[in-house]
Amino acid sequence: MADLAFGIDIGGSAIKAGRVDLGSGSVQTRLSHVATPMPSTPEAIIAAMDRLLDLHGVSSTMPVGISIPAPVVHGVVPSMANLDQKWTGVDVPTLVEARLGHPVTVVNDADAAALGEVGFGAAKGVAGTVIVTTLGTGIGSGVVVDGRLVPNVELGHLEIDSFDAETRASARQKNTENLSWEQWAARLQRYYSHVEKLFSPDLFVVGGAISEQSAHFLPLLDLRTPIVPAVLRNRAGVIGAALAASLTARTEP
Ligand code: BGC
Repeated sequence: MADLAFGIDIGGSAIKAGRVDLGSGSVQTRLSHVATPMPSTPEAIIAAMDRLLDLHGVSSTMPVGISIPAPVVHGVVPSMANLDQKWTGVDVPTLVEARLGHPVTVVNDADAAALGEVGFGAAKGVAGTVIVTTLGTGIGSGVVVDGRLVPNVELGHLEIDSFDAETRASARQKNTENLSWEQWAARLQRYYSHVEKLFSPDLFVVGGAISEQSAHFLPLLDLRTPIVPAVLRNRAGVIGAALAASLTARTEP
């Protein structure tokens, strides 16, 4: 495996990027943050990525991984909930390589967070089924079984009580509806107990910026499954994207 890879995490409000040391899982130097361009079209975001690669002096041989807030099926985005609709149907690695001349690996943002937490965080060394959820604009989910990612599991869009789950229980929804921690925790309880019933996981890991305040809501949940906050915080997407890129680089002939 390469020693270093570059990770780019594209979110609804910010794009983060940094060089990741794959031995320790740490972000070298500093993590860059830039605002997500609006409209958040593929062209505008690829231009922002170009500037980030330049800024960090990323060489053409360094593996580059990108995480995006949508499923990624063999590089193609079948549907997009939280960025511009022009992403739908795009073959992202092909488009990025055509524009920037750099091969990239593209992965779902929650899958990236799951890879990061399993590699270096709260789920390191945990056997069985780990479900990493990210509570943010939407609800992302990454499912890892005995260390292996099952990609593109979209548990944020489970239909629960006739609602798309993320429209009730995401962190954005807590803010939009000005819910108290207790009110929001009641929705999280409904959500996690449903997922628990479906998967009987060994561990839930909760990420997203709001997980830094997990003391306000995780103790309110009553589940059979242990549930812990993510430890990589806002670096999980960048670290996981870099890991995904290094794994691709290792398996390519
Ligand atoms: C998307 C997922 C994504 C999640 C978090 C959902 O709306 O469908 O692919 O992981 O938001 O960004």
